[in-house]
Amino acid sequence: MSIRLGPFEIENPFILAPMAGITNSPFRRLMRKRRSSVVVSELVSANGIEFAGERSLDLLKFHEEERPVGLQIFGEREDLLVKACQYIERQGADFVDLNLGCPVPKVVKKGAGSAMCRDPISLGKILTQMVRSVKIPVTIKIRTGWDAGSRNAHDVVRAAADAGVAWVAIHGRTRAQGYSGEADWEMIAEVKAKSPIPIIGNGDLATAEVALKRYRESGVDAVLIGRGALRNPFIFEQAEALWKGQAIRKVTTEDYLELLSEQRTMLDETFGARGGLIHARKFLAWYSAGFPGCHELRRKIFSIQASDELWKDVTEFFVKNTAHRDLEFLAQPFLMGGHG
Ligand SMILES: Cc1cc2nc3c(=O)[nH]c(=O)nc-3n(C[C@H](O)[C@H](O)[C@H](O)COP(=O)(O)O)c2cc1C
Repeated sequence: MSIRLGPFEIENPFILAPMAGITNSPFRRLMRKRRSSVVVSELVSANGIEFAGERSLDLLKFHEEERPVGLQIFGEREDLLVKACQYIERQGADFVDLNLGCPVPKVVKKGAGSAMCRDPISLGKILTQMVRSVKIPVTIKIRTGWDAGSRNAHDVVRAAADAGVAWVAIHGRTRAQGYSGEADWEMIAEVKAKSPIPIIGNGDLATAEVALKRYRESGVDAVLIGRGALRNPFIFEQAEALWKGQAIRKVTTEDYLELLSEQRTMLDETFGARGGLIHARKFLAWYSAGFPGCHELRRKIFSIQASDELWKDVTEFFVKNTAHRDLEFLAQPFLMGGHG
């Protein structure tokens, strides 16, 4: 079974959402192997690319195993956005995604991120230039609007379609909402119904069941799953199974041990042992949330300084505790801030 998403044939409609500081190359590879059908980098500054900032260029590295992989950029200057698209094409990425959903004041004040959607006509001109400048597809990720009084996702999608954008991902909240309230899947469905190009829905898909339900009910072409994949890194496999009419396979201790071992190797290869440990901490805290003893483990995760000792403790934790998870604890919202 496969489906079409713009120019790509993809394995299923469940895609890891871009998250700054999280969807680095190792995590994208891990989730790609665990059935996220596409992956996208975190947002990278077009200005940073222009000035060849080391951090920006490092964020644009990817592994062949990630394909199809998109690299996400943000910025407000048309010339730099065009150059960034061309750089990304030279890097060999499969598509370039423009972040138009970031609500963070530092980004919005300069006129980038979600601020660019306030004027769909000017945005359309910039998108046209970006699309013309490269052969790879250009995609965008937006919010439903600036605030409750200006929910203009319809207009933005129309401008994007006219410019030749390959698809639009919509996080179902306004910029003003940040991460509060609930994602507006009704509006996502309305925009999809009228859109001439593929629409990807996004927001609050915490379980495989909810992801499939939203996908089916809203009629979107695919869905993005962000925070749900952090507490349940097996969510894509599970959603794919449900979508294919199969039962969800129970996650076993072995699944966790394989994930931990792969992630450790990839993080250490990419960031070195010390950097790998720093990156590992947050993932380990999310993966373990809701299992018996997770608070105690969390304290250890953020205090143990020796990499071997930490991984040994975490391995023991998953060997001992994977039988039961507190779903009520898991239902509590977390990570209520980000760049999209
Ligand atoms: C910590 C964090 C960082 C994020 N960084 C980005 C980003 O770099 N680019 C982007 O388009 N969206 C970013 N987002 C937004 C997510 O892609 C997604 O739209 C949002 O989390 C809602 O989906 P979810 O409820 O499945 O998490 C970020 C979200 C979080 C929580």
